[in-house]
Amino acid sequence: MVQVVLPALITDIRRIYDVYFSAFENDSMGRLMVKILFPMEIDDEFRKAHAAGTLAYWHTSPWQYTFKCVDTDTGDIIGMCLGDIYLQERTVEERMNHGVPWLTGAERERAEAILDPLWEVREKLFGGRPYIYCHVIGVDPQHQGRKAGALLVQWGIELGAKANLPVYFESSPSTVKLYKRMGFEQIEEKVVHKAAVLGTEADIEVPLMVKMPAGMGMSFAEWRRASLDKSN
Ligand SMILES: CC(C)(COP(=O)(O)OP(=O)(O)OC[C@H]1O[C@@H](n2cnc3c(N)ncnc32)[C@H](O)[C@@H]1OP(=O)(O)O)[C@@H](O)C(=O)NCCC(=O)NCCS
Repeated sequence: MVQVVLPALITDIRRIYDVYFSAFENDSMGRLMVKILFPMEIDDEFRKAHAAGTLAYWHTSPWQYTFKCVDTDTGDIIGMCLGDIYLQERTVEERMNHGVPWLTGAERERAEAILDPLWEVREKLFGGRPYIYCHVIGVDPQHQGRKAGALLVQWGIELGAKANLPVYFESSPSTVKLYKRMGFEQIEEKVVHKAAVLGTEADIEVPLMVKMPAGMGMSFAEWRRASLDKSN
């Protein structure tokens, strides 16, 4: 089986998000996060509206990219990833937190109580500096364990190396090992989701992961210090 990573096309949006909505079924933290972000029933009508909303967003976003992992034997999309590639400095306005506008009331408050602290840490770590922020990697459960995830992660690492930028993302607690093995470091900063917000028995800590480009020859801590010195 040969797998390739390609940019997602407009005609892929439905399938890409079918992969996304199914990928987390077997991961307790991931399943919970999807449920908090999308508490509605994920039925055909929702998927159609969600695909239309995604396409509308693609018309506006200057830095968000979606990629697919395709099994070339069948042509099937078996994995996806989504990330913001910030090649240039961004202004305060450009990196404003828009919250979760597709929800209202208590559902929106709950989703924002989860996402806001993640945004605050990104703001603290990177501010307006260029970097690559991976929102999500998901592989269709029927195809998990066939190296599509590793291929997508490797693709992101190579992009970071070519662009000479750190690659950053918030991991599921269950997948930290996979990313560490691929060269990511878990940074000291932490985000802890409170049990009361999650509706779980215990708080859950989100591992924050970064991969520095090898060519830069700097650890993340050194890169942060250097960029802080530059901005002062
Ligand atoms: C995590 C995920 C992206 C990995 O993709 P995958 O295609 O199933 O994984 P791969 O086949 O590429 O596995 C690569 C290696 O990572 C290991 N691995 C895969 N999933 C793992 C997990 N959840 N925990 C620990 N190790 C894992 C594999 O055992 C494999 O190890 P090996 O090289 O020694 O054989 C995929 O399983 C998935 O979509 N999970 C649910 C969503 C999720 O957790 N996304 C990540 C957070 S955004």
